[in-house]
Amino acid sequence: MIDHSRISCETLKAKVMSAEEAAELIKPGTTIGASGFTGSGYPKAVPAALAAKMKKEQAEGRTLRVNLWTGASTGPELDGVLAEANGIEFRMPYQSDPTLRNRINAGEAGYFDNHLSCAVPMTASGALGPLHTALIEVTAIRPDGKLVPSSSVGNNQSWLDQAEQVILEVNSWQNEALEGIHDIYRVARFPNTQPIPIVRPDDIVGERFLTVDPKKVVAVVETEIPDRNLPFTAPDEASKKIASNIIDFLTHEVKKGRLPENLLPLQSGVGNIANAVLHGLGDSPFENLTSYTEVIQDGMIALMKSGKLRMASATAFSFSPDMAEELNNTMDQYQGRLILRPQDVSNSPEVIRRLGCIAMNALIEADIYGNVNSTHVMGSRVMNGIGGSGDFARSASISIFMTPSTAKGGKISAIVPMASHVDHGTQDVQVLVTEQGLADLRGLTPKQRAESIIKNCAHPDYRDMLMDYFNRAKETSVGKHTPVILDEALSWHDRFVKTGTMLA
Ligand code: COA
Repeated sequence: MIDHSRISCETLKAKVMSAEEAAELIKPGTTIGASGFTGSGYPKAVPAALAAKMKKEQAEGRTLRVNLWTGASTGPELDGVLAEANGIEFRMPYQSDPTLRNRINAGEAGYFDNHLSCAVPMTASGALGPLHTALIEVTAIRPDGKLVPSSSVGNNQSWLDQAEQVILEVNSWQNEALEGIHDIYRVARFPNTQPIPIVRPDDIVGERFLTVDPKKVVAVVETEIPDRNLPFTAPDEASKKIASNIIDFLTHEVKKGRLPENLLPLQSGVGNIANAVLHGLGDSPFENLTSYTEVIQDGMIALMKSGKLRMASATAFSFSPDMAEELNNTMDQYQGRLILRPQDVSNSPEVIRRLGCIAMNALIEADIYGNVNSTHVMGSRVMNGIGGSGDFARSASISIFMTPSTAKGGKISAIVPMASHVDHGTQDVQVLVTEQGLADLRGLTPKQRAESIIKNCAHPDYRDMLMDYFNRAKETSVGKHTPVILDEALSWHDRFVKTGTMLA
């Protein structure tokens, strides 16, 4: 049931209207800056009303499409409904919705995939044009008009600052005990930037609430709709092996005195593999861990419950439906242990470098030299986007990338002669891990990297093929530093597209 007491500010209470009325205030061709980050805290009622309006306009021969900026991926009630209505002209900076993905890959929606820490500096500079409407979900509106954020912070404060008009969704599904877990720090803009004063992952440096100019608020819509994320798949044998390979590596680094016993703040990427690794850390010897990351997934809560993880700082929750429900009911137990910040703070390269985060991100494919493709299948079909992986990989103290050694039942090797798309160059990839083993690439020359990756990470079905390619490349390549056979390097992908398998 909608809790009408969530809006305590009389000025903003006077602006309550239906989602349909609010959707009327969004004009064709304009840009919406929405809240939302990995299935959390995105607006859920106005987009549905807007999608219905888009379909009606289309049926009558008119076009209503919008540009959509968010924090990152959202849920079916935002990306899903607007993509289904074919109403997204331009999307940035990250998505993972299956319907939208299909629209993008069919050439029906434009997509600007960008580092998540860069969205605010770029839009605030004006480079992407004006922001017409901020459409932001909040938990509550206080008597002074300040906004209690919900389950993600993302770019919300910046969208509220930049937009010409603001529409708020007050979602009473979100637990009021979220109040107090947010740390809203405004990063100064060029040329007046200042150091972000975070020196430990648990430092609180900003305010608890979002602020908005009440004069810009044109509509307030009350909702009671759960966040919706996909459930994680249970960790399989390959994921468990990847986790144990990473734990062995970190244990070795501690033994060598290169890492403290409680490690350094962990960053863990999105998806099933990253979630499985977090679960695996539950069986590790490490205690008193901290996390400075982008999303808090189920595995991190499991680590917290087991007492291994002291606290976690991020910009959003990214929970399975069961965990979202559980956390939403028990939020008061996590005060002081969970912090949600704006994404230009959670993903700030400056802070990540200062804290020495250990970055762990999943990938789609890596080549024998360690170039990593996080985003494109067969070089052309975008999966999700780079997300925050680049923000963390470049600035981490140790940058780990992980993947099962094969995909699609063994028909695709995740280790290939040349990556069909590159998101992370070799300099940003220090450790590569599969269920087969781990390659520590730090200080290795390209040829040493290839030897180590083929030997330690490739699947046995592809190992000889890779070694054969590498040996012939060493013989015939014009340059002997990073040997390549130019007309063969992408032949594995070509073979897969033509025959359905990379196996020769
Ligand atoms: N070729 C073709 N498909 C591949 C593939 C490859 N080399 N590697 C993985 N895939 C497919 C899988 O088959 C699976 O497909 P399905 O959804 O049809 O089953 C899908 O990619 C996801 O793979 P999965 O093994 O379940 O891993 P995941 O859920 O951990 O996701 C990424 C892996 C790379 C897609 C995901 O981590 C991602 O989008 N990363 C980029 C953003 C990022 O790193 N953000 C972190 C910043 S905090």
